[in-house]
Amino acid sequence: AKTHYHDFVVQATPVKRLCKTHNTITVNGMYPGPTLEVNNGDTLVVKVINKARYNVTIHWHGVRQMRTAWADGPEFVTQCPIRPGHSYTYKFTIQGQEGTLWWHAHSSWLRATVYGALIIRPRPGDSYPFPEPKRETPLLLGEWWDANPIDVVRQATRTGAAPNVSNAYTINGQPGDLYNCSQKDTILVPVNSGETNLLRIINSALNQQLFFTIANHKLTVVGADALYLKPFTTSVLMLGPGQTTDVLITADQPPAKYYIAARAYASAQAAPFDNTTTTAILEYETAPCLAKCTSTKPVMPSLPAFNDTATATAFTKSLRSPRKVEVPTEIDENLFITVGLGLNNCPRGARRSNCQGPNGTRFTAGMNNVSFVLPSNFSLLQAHQQRIPGVFTTDFPANPPQKFDYTGNVSRSLWQPARGTKVYRLKYGARVQIVLQGTNIFTTENHPIHLHGYDFYILAEGFGNFNPNRDTAKFNLVDPPQRNTASVPVGGWSVIRFVADNPGVWIMHCHLDVHITWGLAMAFLVENGVGELQTLEAPPADLPLC
Ligand code: C2O
Repeated sequence: AKTHYHDFVVQATPVKRLCKTHNTITVNGMYPGPTLEVNNGDTLVVKVINKARYNVTIHWHGVRQMRTAWADGPEFVTQCPIRPGHSYTYKFTIQGQEGTLWWHAHSSWLRATVYGALIIRPRPGDSYPFPEPKRETPLLLGEWWDANPIDVVRQATRTGAAPNVSNAYTINGQPGDLYNCSQKDTILVPVNSGETNLLRIINSALNQQLFFTIANHKLTVVGADALYLKPFTTSVLMLGPGQTTDVLITADQPPAKYYIAARAYASAQAAPFDNTTTTAILEYETAPCLAKCTSTKPVMPSLPAFNDTATATAFTKSLRSPRKVEVPTEIDENLFITVGLGLNNCPRGARRSNCQGPNGTRFTAGMNNVSFVLPSNFSLLQAHQQRIPGVFTTDFPANPPQKFDYTGNVSRSLWQPARGTKVYRLKYGARVQIVLQGTNIFTTENHPIHLHGYDFYILAEGFGNFNPNRDTAKFNLVDPPQRNTASVPVGGWSVIRFVADNPGVWIMHCHLDVHITWGLAMAFLVENGVGELQTLEAPPADLPLC
């Protein structure tokens, strides 16, 4: 196995999009940032040097970080932020994961522009469980604000209102030719007639689930979140932020140009959303008329409507592990966690300008009625490992404080989660089941729920309230997909299972950043087991402190 050394310089860089230039936070001057390419079993050593004027951390989204929680990256969870002028070296080994992951800033909303692909190929000498593709192309779906994303979130937290929606969706940082001033920079993906290529699609958007399709071409899904899947063919994918999907595409159409396109799967009934389409172009190198003849318009695909939940759900339900997997059948910890938004009354005496949510309220969100607040003086992991009191409490509830009709109309008293820094303690090796129950409090949305440090099996999902008597029979205990981010259906639930075999403190949150900002998160504290392979490594000497 190899060790790969990289320097990531976080810095402000002028970037021009949609006719205007912004000083944008980038890594090494690149937007999106550099692609990391490794093999399963390799070690990455990345020195992050902060030359920006904001605090920053980098998270290696989906990397299991076995025993190396110190390298996970979420600010105030596993480390304090890297302050301007400082640096921190992340060191970790890829163990048993193959496919596509990514890295992104995990500090305020910096990940809007600070992100890149992490490609994990099989060990040298091993091959893919599918025919070797001729070419491989990462496609990062993102969002662009015609503003500084830090100002966008500051404005929202100050007023208690929803933040402004982005001005464009992007593919590899480019909005594509349906947007103003974007035509000449539209991303081109070359293919040769007859070739089969691998596309590594990553939803790095901040706040948006996305549908993805390519005109006239079938997509064969072979993996997601750096785990292989039983191949199946579809014309449209749905990716929640944080999720990746690897697909094979065969260039079997008449040589021409075809749009690669992504558009919102919004599903929210109340929030505004952006219904525009970002495009790249699949370009046959054998086509008679290429980039020069701008008169040949690429073939446009049809995309599902923004609220096409049936298509989104049909996609997630098609995912299967390639073979029978070892799902834990006995459960030590059975949790039921509600995920949803809420509204807080304007605090007594507060200025109305601080409460610009619906009807003079402030937006909030929570899990089991707790709105998660990050600490500011220590990271949770440091506080746990050094037994520093007063940083967090271990009373995150295993069930909602009261039962109610989660997906029906609920009384106003349930709309207001209480703020807290509460973690849930798990014994090393505990077999955990979580019912993630979406709520209709204030609004119905689907939530891409991401757990750090783990991949979990998704046993089932459905609409309405989870009912153990009815729904347990639907569990797939044979070949469920394994992922690090589950799309909890709009007005519905997902059931996940994992074994707590990775010691540390691991945040679980909605990967829509606006929802994290409002508190849609919690953390698991997984205790050490006995023996070296079951215990957290010592913190690195350069770990940033607060
Ligand atoms: Cu992709 Cu907590 O992050």
